Amino acid sequence: MSLTLAFETSCDETSVAVVDSDLKVLSNVVASQIDIHKRFGGVVPEVASRNHLLAIESLTDEALRVAGVSLSQVTRIAATTHPGLVGAVMVGRVFAESIATARNLPFVEVNHIIGHIASCVLSNLELKPPFIALVVSGGHTSIYRVQDYKKIKLVASTMDDACGEAFDKVAKVLGLSYPGGPEVSKMASQFKGDTSLVFMPNVNYKKTSNFSYSGLKTAVLNCVNRKRQIGKELNIPEICFAFQREAIGQIIAKCEMVKEKLPIAISGGVAANRYLREQFPDAFFPEPELCGDNAAMIGAAAILFSDAKII
Ligand code: KG4
Ligand code: ZN
Repeated sequence: MSLTLAFETSCDETSVAVVDSDLKVLSNVVASQIDIHKRFGGVVPEVASRNHLLAIESLTDEALRVAGVSLSQVTRIAATTHPGLVGAVMVGRVFAESIATARNLPFVEVNHIIGHIASCVLSNLELKPPFIALVVSGGHTSIYRVQDYKKIKLVASTMDDACGEAFDKVAKVLGLSYPGGPEVSKMASQFKGDTSLVFMPNVNYKKTSNFSYSGLKTAVLNCVNRKRQIGKELNIPEICFAFQREAIGQIIAKCEMVKEKLPIAISGGVAANRYLREQFPDAFFPEPELCGDNAAMIGAAAILFSDAKII
């Protein structure tokens, strides 16, 4: 039985996991830095790198302990090597490669996005290529055609902001805490009934298969600032509900354009959004705890997609 020790440090989560060759997750420990970055209203890259450095060694010990294995039983090392915050990625990569070199083990470089795609397979072992993968996170909003375990074709991506980033910025202007996605979603679910509030009434999303969130984000910010200027009280649940409906509505429109009757797998931090999950009853989603950044998905990607290229 081969065992993969995997590392994820591309943003503000330090995570180490042990995954076996049957894709059984023996451990997946995650140290979130959310509380550290909260007071800055977003991730500070240098602070993230330093905290990865502080956490990574003890997390590795914990991941091995929880999995009930020793380092000498590990047969392969994997780490996120791109894309991500350069300094943050470097901490995990150098730590992982050092173990691989010292132990004479193979080292697998993992693309973080392929990691998110692999998280759908981890939670749905029956999911096999070809399928359409939608990755919706704080840094990415893209659609891929996963042709096989080697070829992943980019079909559409955002022209400006990512969907999660728009959730975070809307939360910030409304005074909600970071990360904004879960907060906006919680507020939206408190809104009962219907609303005529529409931020971008004239958009025809079907004109292009690419995403765009900058206009929607700005429209919400302008609406909020205008109401504040004239001393009007904000109905925060209503604003969150209307924003979420449009943000997810765009995803629905794009997926309808490219679906090609293939199964669809939705991953990334925003895939934890309840409203999004309700809109795609037939899609394959990771379990909620595998939607955000974690090392189990990096281990799974190293096992399934080790030679994959995004083309
Ligand atoms: O995948 P992830 O952990 O990190 C990146 O690779 O970016 O995604 C984090 C993003 C944040 O923007 C966060 O606000 C968003 O996912 N997010 C959500 C929800 N939970 C997390 N967005 C909407 N609804 C949620 N429930
Ligand atoms: Zn991510």
